[in-house]
Amino acid sequence: MINTGSRNCTSLNGSWNVIIDPADGGNYRQVWKEKKALSKTEFYEYSFEGGPELKVPVDFNSQLPELTYYEGTIWYKKSFQFQADKKKRQFIHFGAVNYLADIYLNSQLIGRHEGGFTPFQIEITGSLKEGMNSLIVKVNNKRQKDGIPGLGYDWFNYGGITRDVNLIETGESYIEDYFIQLKKNSADQIYGWLKINGSKLKQSICVSIPELGIKYKSTSDENGLAKIEFTAAISPWSPDNPKLYKVLIEAEQDTIIEEIGFRTIEARGTKIYLNGNVIFLKGVNIHEEAPLRSSKAVSDSDFRVLLNWAKELGCNLVRLAHYPHNEKMVRMAEKMGIMVWDEIPVYQNIEFSSAAVPAKISLMMREMIKRDKNRCAVITWSLSNETSPGLEGRNQCLIALAKECRMIDSTRLINSVFCSQGYNNNTFNLWDPLYEYFDVVSLNEYLGWYVPWQGPANEVKWKINFPDKPLIISEFGGEALFGNNSEPRDAASSWSEDYQEQIYKDQIEMFHTTPNLAGLCPWILVDFRSPVRMHPIYQAGWNRKGLISSTGKKKKAWYVMQKYYRDMKL
Ligand code: GCU
Repeated sequence: MINTGSRNCTSLNGSWNVIIDPADGGNYRQVWKEKKALSKTEFYEYSFEGGPELKVPVDFNSQLPELTYYEGTIWYKKSFQFQADKKKRQFIHFGAVNYLADIYLNSQLIGRHEGGFTPFQIEITGSLKEGMNSLIVKVNNKRQKDGIPGLGYDWFNYGGITRDVNLIETGESYIEDYFIQLKKNSADQIYGWLKINGSKLKQSICVSIPELGIKYKSTSDENGLAKIEFTAAISPWSPDNPKLYKVLIEAEQDTIIEEIGFRTIEARGTKIYLNGNVIFLKGVNIHEEAPLRSSKAVSDSDFRVLLNWAKELGCNLVRLAHYPHNEKMVRMAEKMGIMVWDEIPVYQNIEFSSAAVPAKISLMMREMIKRDKNRCAVITWSLSNETSPGLEGRNQCLIALAKECRMIDSTRLINSVFCSQGYNNNTFNLWDPLYEYFDVVSLNEYLGWYVPWQGPANEVKWKINFPDKPLIISEFGGEALFGNNSEPRDAASSWSEDYQEQIYKDQIEMFHTTPNLAGLCPWILVDFRSPVRMHPIYQAGWNRKGLISSTGKKKKAWYVMQKYYRDMKL
């Protein structure tokens, strides 16, 4: 189900008992059975009671010193009261668990999930006891060779139950899913569908937008599906007018209250159009990390700080790198009029050739789309980042994924991010066999940092080897330690603010003559933790490409980027 905020939820957030299990002894000891000694000779070498407690939702790494770099198994337990009601159905819903989750209810395995950034739910109707119930979640955040992402990535592996957990109760039938957006290329045709789950699938349904005096009635078919299609004189959502409508979605035993905006987004030729008007994506990259707290971003205030900084920079888009962020972040961006770039962590070295991986990627994409498809602020689904064309199985997997994505949702831009291998003689020679399958070409380039300039920035040449498509520079930048002005300041190894500032000045020089340029996303809004960033003075486990430091201070490059966005005339 989607939109938990409109459901009958009992929150299971708060303090959970845990067993920290670095040697994975919990499987052998079957800790989910919660055995208790009943005789004088019995004893069990584990207990949830009397052990440490961890907060949910947030990563476990930031909660105990011994868990700082922990990658392994932690067993979480939460007890909760339940009063039976025969006419109701019950579900356990997780906003996200990183990375593997095995779910036990009253000592029975009821479900499993793989993937650290997308929601999942398990129906537990009939499995609950009157009175006290015990929910146990085995969480394992070990990086997996055939994981999504794989073994190596440049962000912190925050493990745990990192988003909300809810016990959700519905009637015997409920509105499981719905999609209500503007029809592609239409300014007033609302199009969508609604899916009923339950024994009685043929039901009368109603979608109303009170502000527009709309009441669209229909009936779902024998599969519980109802088409939605009506005309509405909507005021289109945009960064300047982030208009959201209250939408009531009703079936015979369920009513969902949504806030939905309506807009069109499309790529035509080398331009991107929002509601039929050319728009330049003034973006910035953001990781899901709490500013100033070295933990997962989990609270509304965390999201607000990050989004306000993006607004202050002059952005109209945030690239939520490299994985689906918290739904609350997406909804808050939408309310603030900030477009969202939603991405799955198909990041660099993925084991595409492993039999299970394409299916895992497809499921993760579908989970992302399922959750966010009614968020008009989400203008693009990004299906990968910097995977190499030479990786076995990569082209075939991502081509199939792009086609599947378009089949599910043709209303948004379908996107993938490529690295810039082809920069020689001060010329970008862009080519990837996948370009034709995506609506825009997104390129990460680090001229001035990983790649020295080979000539003046304003003389960079571009060989655009793909049919006219909008080009987005989805990452650029370099590192600087805030307040550091080591000499020589014009050397990368100084990690100086001056050096980073100069990268941004040169990059902007280049952008003046970059063909097809339709959007920019500097890497990155804020310094972020990454264990592979190991220089003891300048990094100390942080990637310092932030325009803002890990202490919340704006670096010199921030002002260069802010001025560029503010002076930009469309
Ligand atoms: C890559 C990658 C980022 C990484 C960045 C960097 O392009 O997409 O995840 O953090 O470069 O090297 O800082």
